[in-house]
Amino acid sequence: MTTKAPTATTEDDITAETLRRFEGTPNPRLREIMLSLTRHLHGFIKDVQLTEEEWFEAIKFLTATGQLCDANRQEFILLSDTLGVSMVVDLISHRKPAGATESTVFGPFHREGAAEMPMGSNIAPHDTKGIPAIVFGHVLDAEGKPIAGAKLDVWQANSDGFYDSQLPNAEQLHMRGIFRTGADGRYVVKTTRPVHYQIPSDGPVGRMLKPTIPHPWRPAHVHFMISAPGFEQLVTHVFVAGDKYLDSDVVFGVKDSLIREFVRHPAGRAPDGRMVESDYFHLNYDFGLKQVASNARAA
Ligand code: BEZ
Ligand code: FE
Repeated sequence: MTTKAPTATTEDDITAETLRRFEGTPNPRLREIMLSLTRHLHGFIKDVQLTEEEWFEAIKFLTATGQLCDANRQEFILLSDTLGVSMVVDLISHRKPAGATESTVFGPFHREGAAEMPMGSNIAPHDTKGIPAIVFGHVLDAEGKPIAGAKLDVWQANSDGFYDSQLPNAEQLHMRGIFRTGADGRYVVKTTRPVHYQIPSDGPVGRMLKPTIPHPWRPAHVHFMISAPGFEQLVTHVFVAGDKYLDSDVVFGVKDSLIREFVRHPAGRAPDGRMVESDYFHLNYDFGLKQVASNARAA
């Protein structure tokens, strides 16, 4: 007579049995992830003694988060960002050597399809409330040599603190553009001075944050995604020095090396000789790219 394996009867039995099933996963990395996920997820549920009602609430929350996602609304990225997960992954993934600019959170507001613009173009022609700003600098390698042909994908919120995809005419792209450096590695972007803004609060993530965190603000910043052949892609922001939310960014994205002063100038003759009719700001920031490891390039 064969004896039947004992049925799992306690919480710990279920955890042990779940681990036993994933033990046989052939891919070692997937196995490691599934075993650790099981331990942590079961541990969390036991730790807080999660009720059935609370678990169904959580499932409703995740369902609503997925249902809200489309080309212009990335609620799952927002969830990852506000739980601190995006920045923990960023820090694990991008340990930067000296001379390479630090990365930060990608965020939910990047869009494909921004126009390629001649160097020095204005990405903010309709942001009439904003104070004009000129953002310039170089894209450099680890030795400080200019990188020619680097692609800069730039995006920013308008002076009311909204991205184009949040506005009624969401299909119109604004406050974004793509620039390519010349032989001197230099870039120049005209825009408006960025302002701090609140992340979207009209969805499940907003409902999660309202009763749980001090505030939903991000300090003022401009986004950059920079790529060039032979270098790792850099996803980062430059933050406005002095912003009152630098110490408490709702998505934990601030790194000291990314904070820079936007310098105010009165109307008049600009350093390049042009007459400027209103006050404006300038920001000078050089980006350093990390070379792709030579064995990775050969692959
Ligand atoms: C952003 O900077 O665009 C952003 C990043 C994370 C969450 C929300 C917005
Ligand atoms: Fe942003």
